[in-house]
Amino acid sequence: MVVSSAPGKVYLFGEHAVVYGEPAVPCAIERRARVTVEARDDDSLRVHAEDLSLDGFTVEYSDGSDDDPDVDVSESLVDAAMGYIDAAVEQARDAANAPDAGFDITIESEIPLGAGLGSSAAVTTAGIHAATRELGVELPTEEVAERAYQAELEVQGGDASRADTFCSATGGAVRVEGDDCRAIEAPDLPFVIGFDGGAGDTGRLVAGVRALREEYDFAADTVESIGDVVRYGEQVLAEGDIEELGRLMNFNHGLLEALGVSSRSLDQMVWAARDAGALGSKLTGAGGGGCIVALDPTDSTETALDYTPGCEDAFRAELDTDGVRVEET
Ligand code: MEV
Repeated sequence: MVVSSAPGKVYLFGEHAVVYGEPAVPCAIERRARVTVEARDDDSLRVHAEDLSLDGFTVEYSDGSDDDPDVDVSESLVDAAMGYIDAAVEQARDAANAPDAGFDITIESEIPLGAGLGSSAAVTTAGIHAATRELGVELPTEEVAERAYQAELEVQGGDASRADTFCSATGGAVRVEGDDCRAIEAPDLPFVIGFDGGAGDTGRLVAGVRALREEYDFAADTVESIGDVVRYGEQVLAEGDIEELGRLMNFNHGLLEALGVSSRSLDQMVWAARDAGALGSKLTGAGGGGCIVALDPTDSTETALDYTPGCEDAFRAELDTDGVRVEET
């Protein structure tokens, strides 16, 4: 048996635009998905998952089973999560040259599903890491990241960047531009997260931005403007000017809003954070619902979000400098 874990992440800047080759800066956070993998005697796959939303739920799932899972999040989200697990298992089988390997897999996650905190990348990355080690193969971190990216590409129908999976594999703050993925230095960033209890459909949101970008030149310009914000944001990050970073996050949110990927509850949380004195706030991840990230070294934003209609949970998140790792063997 091997247990591996990998962190979730927030986007300081650059989601969506990164799909079109603009740079992005995701940062790993200390909320992890743990995946336990045990080889089976046959070639089947059984998955047991718990805590995939902040409320937590348990689902027993196995290939070919007709049982309806007993869950408190939508079945389509569970199906999506299982799609990532299937793709991760295929990658592990391929890496270990063991096409018939079967596994019992248990997933425990502190990262809500589909909420913009990189749950699928964390589960996929930790799953590939644990399953390959269970088969006796130790992949370098870069290869785990590459295979997790291939798995995401497959599940998301060919539209995904390397940002989520690379960040989850390596931890820390990273910069991703096309195939160029690297770690970067970051000052202590006082992240506060607000979660509306919902989720967005990443594939649909990414497709929506693609369609808008093809229809309107100014939507294509908006995507490029996000790239400009990120390029300037990298300099500001290197200088450690947190106040200016906050202003840029506000800019970035406005541009994402223009691309149609925000929602009423995300905007409500973004404004509640700003009204409470946050240095900046924006949606994080694909949008449509889920989480916002704000910068605030004081308790004000977390307190304000606790009282904001539409905000189900608010919490502080620390940068996690550890990427995918073995927890137990
Ligand atoms: C989703 O977490 C981030 C997006 O930029 C998609 C991607 O990068 O693959 C919306």
